[in-house]
Order: sequence, then structure tokens, then C-alpha cells
Amino acid sequence: MNAAIRAATRSALAKKFEMVGIIGGYQGILDKNFKPLKTSDMGNIIQRGGTILKTGRCPQFVDAKYRKIAAQNLKEQDISALICIGGDGSMRGALDLWDDHKIPSIGIPGSIDNDVFGTDFSIGFDTAVNTATDAIDKIRDTAFSHDRLFIVEVMGHETGHIALEVGLACGAEEIFIPENPVTVDDAIQHIKRSLERGKASSILVTAEGKKPGRAYDLAEAIRKKSGFDAKICILGHIQRGGSPTARDRVLASRMGATSIEALLRGNCTAMVGIQNGEMVLVPLKDVTTKKKKLNTNLIKLARVLST
Ligand code: F6P
Repeated sequence: MNAAIRAATRSALAKKFEMVGIIGGYQGILDKNFKPLKTSDMGNIIQRGGTILKTGRCPQFVDAKYRKIAAQNLKEQDISALICIGGDGSMRGALDLWDDHKIPSIGIPGSIDNDVFGTDFSIGFDTAVNTATDAIDKIRDTAFSHDRLFIVEVMGHETGHIALEVGLACGAEEIFIPENPVTVDDAIQHIKRSLERGKASSILVTAEGKKPGRAYDLAEAIRKKSGFDAKICILGHIQRGGSPTARDRVLASRMGATSIEALLRGNCTAMVGIQNGEMVLVPLKDVTTKKKKLNTNLIKLARVLST
């Protein structure tokens, strides 16, 4: 996200606009937590994880009463347009501000879950996938040396984008994702087949599902049905931090710069996305009402490669 803030700020300043950072997301608008941004504030941040502007969930923003206060606060500060970086909740807030108060907003998808409609990738996904892949490579050393079965749980909220890419990248024996349910019996058969051909260690990757802890349920079900004892690793928030990959920094830089171009061209309610390598603008209406599909080719590929 810092790379996107840097790109948007420096692009705006280059065009002689002023840029104001809102500290803490939508809550920051309600709390009047504003900070003018200078080009020097953008130094030494591109390599940092998280966001220098801080963020948070703001449940009040679904209430029109609070959005009215937000609109007044923005007007008081002479803020004429917003750049909103975040997931589907942030995009919904931006659309509502436009619908209710005609405050132009350009969204930038920032979510490790990669579940935002209209973009092939959102900022943070590549870093999260690489972090989890690196962790599982390390876990595999123990799995192999000690002939063990591991279940590794990755983040992703209610989607399997992270689990699928990580599972593929790590050569997981089975990948459990909400979009393509694999049964416990399938997994047990898979482990047995591996044992028969002399492979005594297996790694199963699971998406967290509705809430973290799914790996424990899976391990219990596998133990009850087969007697196999699985070690559990829940990778958790390490996936949401750390220095972003070069790919994420470049994506965020492109999106940040494109967000300013979009505003200057008069766009009022769109999200910047990347589709087939190109920057695109997607109406916020679509972003907030359509569901992003998982790449089912990857599911098939993972299945073939993990036999
Ligand atoms: O939406 C991003 C995400 O990291 C999900 O993958 C995860 O379920 C959730 O946020 C965790 O949120 P929190 O840090 O608020 O518990």
C-alpha cells in the first residue's frame, strides 16, 4: 500500500495538486485525522509493509448518517476527491460517498485475499503468496526428514485464491478451498497413494474458510477416519506484513499513478485494476456487486501435478 500512496502522491504533486493523507481509513475522515503529504514524506516507504497512513475497519460507514458527517469533514478540508486503497468494503464506502454526496473516488484494490472483482491482482497478494510459500518450503524440510503429514492453513477470508496459488507453488498434496470442496476421504486416499509409492511425507494446504482454525477440524477428521496424525501450522498474519515483493511494488506504483490520471480525466467512481497486464478502470458499481471467480485451470493443474 505504501508504494501506491507514494505513486499517487508524487503523481498528484507533479500535476500541482495538493495531497492530504487520511490517517486510519474511513474512521480517520470521521475523526478529522488529516495530514498534508509532501514529496519528502514519500521517501523510504516503498519497501515497507503495511501502510504509513494506518488503516482499520469502520463499521459506522455503512450508516448514511456517518457518511454525511464524513462528507462535511472532507468539504471543510477542501478535499475534492478521494483515492481509496482497500478491499471490497473500502470500495463500497467509496461508491456510497459518490452516490450520497457526489464525492469523486478512485479505488485501488489492496487486499492479500485477491478477491476484488475487476482486477487480476490486488496489492499484497503476491507478497502474501511468497511469504506463505517460503514458510511452507521450510515446513517441508521437517515433513520430509521426519516422514510427517502437515496441514498448513493460509489466509484468504472466504476465498481460496491464496491457498490455490500457494498450494500449487509448494506442490501440496491436497488443497482445500471453499470454491472447490475436496473431501477428507479424497485427502486420505491421496496420502495413501503417496505412501504406496514411497513418499512418506505430505503437505495439505487449506484456506482458512469463514474463520481461522479450519486446519484443526481437518486434522481431527483425518485422524478419526484414518489414524494419520497431522501437524498443524496456521500461518496467520505473517502473510499480511513484511517487505512487499518487487511485483507488488510495481503493481502498486502503476495503480497509484493511474488513479491520479483517472481523476484528471474526470472519472468519479471507478477502481483501477490490472487485466492481462494492462491498467483498466472498472466501475465501482461492478466491483461491489460482482463476484471474482477463481482460476479453475489452476485447480485442474494442481490436481494433475500433485498425483
Ligand atoms: O481480508 C484480509 C484478511 O487478511 C483475511 O485474509 C483475513 O481473514 C482477515 O483479513 C483477518 O482480519 P483481522 O486481521 O481483522 O483479523
